[in-house]
Amino acid sequence: GKDILGLEMMTVPEIEVILETACQMKGIIDRDIKKVPTLRGKSIVNLFFEASTRTRTSFELAGKYLGADVVNITASASSVTKGESLRDTLYTVEAMGVDVIVMRHEAEGAAQYAANVASPVIINAGDGAHEHPTQGLLDMFTMKEVKGKLDGLKVAIVGDIFHSRVARSNIWGLLKMGAEVHLAGPKTLMPYYIQEVGVHVHNKVEEALEGADVVNVLRIQRERQHKGLFPSAREYARIFGINQARLDLAKPDALIMHPGPMNRGLEISPDVAYGDQSVIQEQVKNGLAIRMAALFLVLTGGKNIETTA
Ligand code: CP
Repeated sequence: GKDILGLEMMTVPEIEVILETACQMKGIIDRDIKKVPTLRGKSIVNLFFEASTRTRTSFELAGKYLGADVVNITASASSVTKGESLRDTLYTVEAMGVDVIVMRHEAEGAAQYAANVASPVIINAGDGAHEHPTQGLLDMFTMKEVKGKLDGLKVAIVGDIFHSRVARSNIWGLLKMGAEVHLAGPKTLMPYYIQEVGVHVHNKVEEALEGADVVNVLRIQRERQHKGLFPSAREYARIFGINQARLDLAKPDALIMHPGPMNRGLEISPDVAYGDQSVIQEQVKNGLAIRMAALFLVLTGGKNIETTA
């Protein structure tokens, strides 16, 4: 189907077509054309059961720039608070005839469930610790745009791997595209099975950073660490925090990335977050291009944007 549920099941040609389409979309953004009629008459619902700034806003702007109607449903302000189930919420949205549901939910597999029970196209905007495919795509787009390729890049992913859907989507996508993936983080935040998928796992962050082309720093997800943060925030910052001295172990032109939102001073120092090597703001901009591409492709099946814009 046309659903975008995760990068684990996406093929290399599918990833390539999304990245290429996003390139064209970035051209539209860069030319400051904020309205094309490509998706006129289409309707998109952002259905968010968890907080979001970047993903929700960029999907909304992406839909609007392409001429679609976009409506936001925030679960905390919806009838979910009255006990309405996920299934009934999906049926309700479906009954209004929407074409796409962009959904974020705290449960792993929620996007797959939605795709099984509801007829609109489902785009996963994050399901628990499972996947966040458009984030993985925008991260790969950013790396490829600056480095010219993904094949052979050494990418270090640092931090709370255990709770990170961003890490999982990065891992699946990057391995498919031929990058070498190195993970580093405390053992308490490293899933024991992860080595089996073909990544290199390091307990010492310095080993992962050595000669890296890209350093992708993850947010420490304190809200998901129900048993408390171990190591403590202070210990984490000291042992794993990405500061300039640690970043200097990577290649001199290594990119520093972070999906946001950041805990500045915890997983990343402020000078690194806003330093010369940081592409964090570019990631946000590229997120808009990737989401325009995703909406365009699921709704049109990939007609050339130039002919329809
Ligand atoms: N990176 C990301 O998904 O950010 P939001 O939670 O703000 O959408």
